[in-house]
Amino acid sequence: MPFPDDLLSIDDLSAEQLLQVLDVADRLKADRGERLAADSDLAHGALRGRTVALLFEKPSTRTRVSFQVAVTELGGQPLPLSSAELQLGRGETVADTGAVLSRYVHAIVVRTFAQQRLEELADGASIPVVNALTDLEHPCQAVADLQTFREAHGDFHGRALAYVGDGNNVAHSLLLAGAKVGLSVRVGHPEGHAPDAGIVTRARQLAADTGATIEVTTDPVAAVAGADAVYTDVWASMGQEAEAAERAARFVPYRVTEQLLAHAATDAVFLHCLPAHRGEEVTAEVIDGPASRVFDQAENRLHAQKALLAGLLA
Ligand code: CP
Ligand code: NVA
Repeated sequence: MPFPDDLLSIDDLSAEQLLQVLDVADRLKADRGERLAADSDLAHGALRGRTVALLFEKPSTRTRVSFQVAVTELGGQPLPLSSAELQLGRGETVADTGAVLSRYVHAIVVRTFAQQRLEELADGASIPVVNALTDLEHPCQAVADLQTFREAHGDFHGRALAYVGDGNNVAHSLLLAGAKVGLSVRVGHPEGHAPDAGIVTRARQLAADTGATIEVTTDPVAAVAGADAVYTDVWASMGQEAEAAERAARFVPYRVTEQLLAHAATDAVFLHCLPAHRGEEVTAEVIDGPASRVFDQAENRLHAQKALLAGLLA
């Protein structure tokens, strides 16, 4: 099966492609130091002579920096853009923007709000478009998360990841990605913050092929019980700032504390896409404690995205 034209959802990759991306990401991670020291064609110079536009309509630290470094180390030229400084900020359509950028650059990495806006841009574009986070999904994050999980536990089959908190973009991509590779995913969410029903249905279809299970509950302890990884995300995502106080009140029982983590497997790791808010969705003891792998996860964004770009632009 050929690599997809775009990565708008993690579901655009087949299970085989996702596992292949993870293997490439592991190799790129293992020999990064060697490649840098040798000043060689990093990662085979896969993007030599190519320019990748990085269009961000929301803030970003990890995604922005890791994509810039990934493109550079692959031999290409990153071009960071924000909608405020483009004609997009004055009402030019995303489809026209995608069409125009396609005449200059070789791929577009986009962080935006609605998934539909990303899809419209991809429809206008004739080059690969990569989802760098929408309100619906965060596929690049999920690849790095799987890489980090596998580093901790060696395999996915027979293992479970518990996501506690908002059934949001990060949870959605984890549900689909986990199901694809045979990692069971359990979501423990507050009432009114369940993951999208269509995504859960699709994850269950995928899980039927890999032997994984997909469970969704409002009980955080049930979600975490025996899990090999416990994952959380902010309570108010970008664009939800006005709801922050109301959400904070409702999400307290879903805070990842040492007590909650104690229900997981003894060798469970703690994961968080970051940015984190200590004392809100996770305590400082947990995120700064021995189970935490959050900075490995952040590092793995770089390796995972190099592997994705190399596949998309091969
Ligand atoms: N996890 C993540 O996407 O972080 P940024 O918002 O800093 O890119
Ligand atoms: N759910 C968060 C993830 C940030 C990386 C957000 O969308 O803001």
